Amino acid sequence: MAGPTLINCLLAVSLLSSVADAQLSTTFYSRSCPSLENTVWMVMKQAVVKDRRMGASLLRLFFHDCFVQGCDGSVLLDAGGEKAAGPNANSLRGFEVIDAIKARVEAACPGVVSCADILALAARDGTFLLHGPTWPVPLGRRDSTTASQSLANNNLPSVNSSLATLISMFARQGLSPTDMTALSGAHTIGQARCTTFRDRIYGNSNIDATFAKRQQRTCPLSGADNNLAPLDVQTLRAFDTAYYQNLMAHRGLFRSDQELFSGGSQDALVRQYSANPALFRSDFVKAMVKMGNINPLTGTAGQVRRNCRFVNS
Ligand code: HEM
Ligand SMILES: *[C@@H]1O[C@H](CO)[C@@H](O)[C@H](O)[C@H]1NC(C)=O
Repeated sequence: MAGPTLINCLLAVSLLSSVADAQLSTTFYSRSCPSLENTVWMVMKQAVVKDRRMGASLLRLFFHDCFVQGCDGSVLLDAGGEKAAGPNANSLRGFEVIDAIKARVEAACPGVVSCADILALAARDGTFLLHGPTWPVPLGRRDSTTASQSLANNNLPSVNSSLATLISMFARQGLSPTDMTALSGAHTIGQARCTTFRDRIYGNSNIDATFAKRQQRTCPLSGADNNLAPLDVQTLRAFDTAYYQNLMAHRGLFRSDQELFSGGSQDALVRQYSANPALFRSDFVKAMVKMGNINPLTGTAGQVRRNCRFVNS
């Protein structure tokens, strides 16, 4: 009986220490691949000029990577079923942008830069290109050799999640309620499919009636599952605090969004962010760096994949 307990205990200690000793560094590639950040920036800029939504899509892709086994590029693997998990299938975008960045980086610095780090930089630049903040990204993550469909299904929050569930899912990743509320502000950019918000706009309580009616025009009761609506009806294309203002007007697109302003513990912070863009941006940046530190593979763990979609043979 002592065996499993001891193993669990050692596992917990090693998980904790891998977070604490992550030792990512903003200068990790300054000698081995000095052109890295410029390359990511150039490709991201082109991609966002072509399709503005892509800035949002790369930010989300990074979130979905970090919540599943840590920020290890697992979400980019074609095998292993992570891409087919409920929250990811027919939903994640931007894999070909990562491929394009990786191809250019490999040409300049073969075998040096991980896919997990490229994704962290692409998320930062995608945010900035949509008028969000920028920040130094600690680097030195390595890539996993495995992906996990079950962890993706278990660790990623759903549009139906209650406030208590959201808080505990983020806590499991070492993120505070404040981090959670700041990171949810990412829903100031990007779009969602009708199928993800239909339940809420037909018959959910705690929703502004005019808003619900308007959404129903793009999202009928049946069919048109893939019709798109902006997550932030006011300013789909710009990273601002309209998301929080919408929540205060009961215009959150998902139940999980509205849970942040529903008479609970996050109401006060939503009010603060709605009125204080500088506070929102600074908390968002802190939370992004923290999220980027979830369980990275470092040192000789994992590998640097040559192609982000496949484990090296
Ligand atoms: C708090 C719990 C969260 C839930 C339940 C949630 C759920 C969702 C869903 C269902 C979509 C639409 C997907 C689709 O239509 O296929 C979406 C889009 C998006 N999410 Fe979240 N999300 C959450 C938190 C986050 C966080 C922490 C980030 C980033 C820091 C994020 C960034 C985004 C972005 C940028 C989009 C738009 C993507 C695009 O247009 O391609 N979300 N989210
Ligand atoms: C959310 O709940 C509704 C029922 O209220 C259900 O039909 C839907 O599939 C749920 N969505 C998710 C992603 O769990």
